[in-house]
Amino acid sequence: MDSIHIQGGVSLQGRVLIQGSKNAALPILAASLLTKETSCIRNCPRIADVYRMVSLLKSLGCEVAWVDGGIRVNPVCVCGGEMPEEAITGMRSSLCLLGAVLGRCGEVVMEHPGGCVIGERPIDLHIDALKKMGVVFEEEGGRLRATAPGGIHGARICLPIASVGATENILLAAALAKGDTLIQGAAREPEVAALCAYLSECGARIEGAGSDRLCVRGSCGRPLDGAQFCIPADRIVAGTYLFGCIATGGNVLLADAPVDQMEAALRVAVRMGSRWERAREGIYVQSPPRPLLPEKLRTSPHPGFPTDMQSMALAAMTKGKGQCLIEETIFEKRFRVVEPLREMGADIETLNSRKVSVRGVSRLVGRDVEAGELRGGAALVLAGLMAEGVTRVYGVKYIDRGYENICRDLRELGARIVSV
Ligand code: UD1
Repeated sequence: MDSIHIQGGVSLQGRVLIQGSKNAALPILAASLLTKETSCIRNCPRIADVYRMVSLLKSLGCEVAWVDGGIRVNPVCVCGGEMPEEAITGMRSSLCLLGAVLGRCGEVVMEHPGGCVIGERPIDLHIDALKKMGVVFEEEGGRLRATAPGGIHGARICLPIASVGATENILLAAALAKGDTLIQGAAREPEVAALCAYLSECGARIEGAGSDRLCVRGSCGRPLDGAQFCIPADRIVAGTYLFGCIATGGNVLLADAPVDQMEAALRVAVRMGSRWERAREGIYVQSPPRPLLPEKLRTSPHPGFPTDMQSMALAAMTKGKGQCLIEETIFEKRFRVVEPLREMGADIETLNSRKVSVRGVSRLVGRDVEAGELRGGAALVLAGLMAEGVTRVYGVKYIDRGYENICRDLRELGARIVSV
């Protein structure tokens, strides 16, 4: 079985180049379906989720090729909206194909996305919004069939929760719709803004990008143009190495890191005793030998502290000074990582399914631990960097979903880490 072996005790030093953003690349690749021309999407990360999206696009009839530094997609031959069996199950993010394929073909048949290891992940908001836009949903032998008998039309949609995926699906369905769509309560995550930027490059008319009020002027079925687009750097990967630096008392240059998207994480870094500055190349971080624990940390939608960085912050705190109450407000099962961290010697008390209290200890010990999901897996790797002796992290397939090569990156920063 694949595993990552880490000999702990080294403080991270040096420069690491941050890969392109997974959560931006996936909906943008899906959006390329809405065009009548070739798009070239540069800086796509070479990760399992992107490979999977590429094969889904191919199975829908697109010509897709990796070219120097990017992916070229030609969607001209797409004809039907039937997705292969494994399309949605296993990769939640391929859900954005729902809006894109509907926009392009007016119908889609796919597996029901179901739950996910980090908690219930319902799709009611996606479905309710698309229904308002003229889409009809039917269950068909366990599969979900969505059609738009009278075509997709614009609508006024008020999202009760600022869901990233639902906002993206609405944008994708709205771009070619008849009439205008107004999304109130839209997610403000930078990946949504990146999708708006790509669609606008392709000729879509979208107002309010980056805000919680988006207005899309539909093209009445006229396909968009192709575009050249560069995927921004991955703020969550940058955050992983930021907390790796904090965890090990390091000095790190996060090259290309999207500083403007990372304000909440950088505020936490300062509360943990680190100093950072905006360098010409990215973000330079300097951390004390042992981090200080802030009293509280609460996840919330952007621009708040991201749920995707919570596990790494928790790992970094295990060997700090003080006590912190961590509250997870987005996904209830993010604390699966608590158990393996405890096995390594962390002092973490579970208060309820959404709150833990972590007290810093002076040492962690290397153990064999199992990653149960992507970000929790990255957090265990950070714990391995801090621990005495050797830590072996299993469940590498989850980590590969979001990191091009976490071992290579951390080795560049001096860590003793190999993938076996
Ligand atoms: C995206 C990100 C994920 C990140 C999350 C929150 C991708 C591929 N994934 O996931 O990394 O952790 O945003 O920033 O971009 N909800 C409902 N009904 C719905 C949809 C969502 O109740 O129909 C709830 C969810 O259970 C959750 C909250 O809304 O509590 C936010 O989820 P959402 O923003 O939709 O997350 P994803 O788009 O799945």
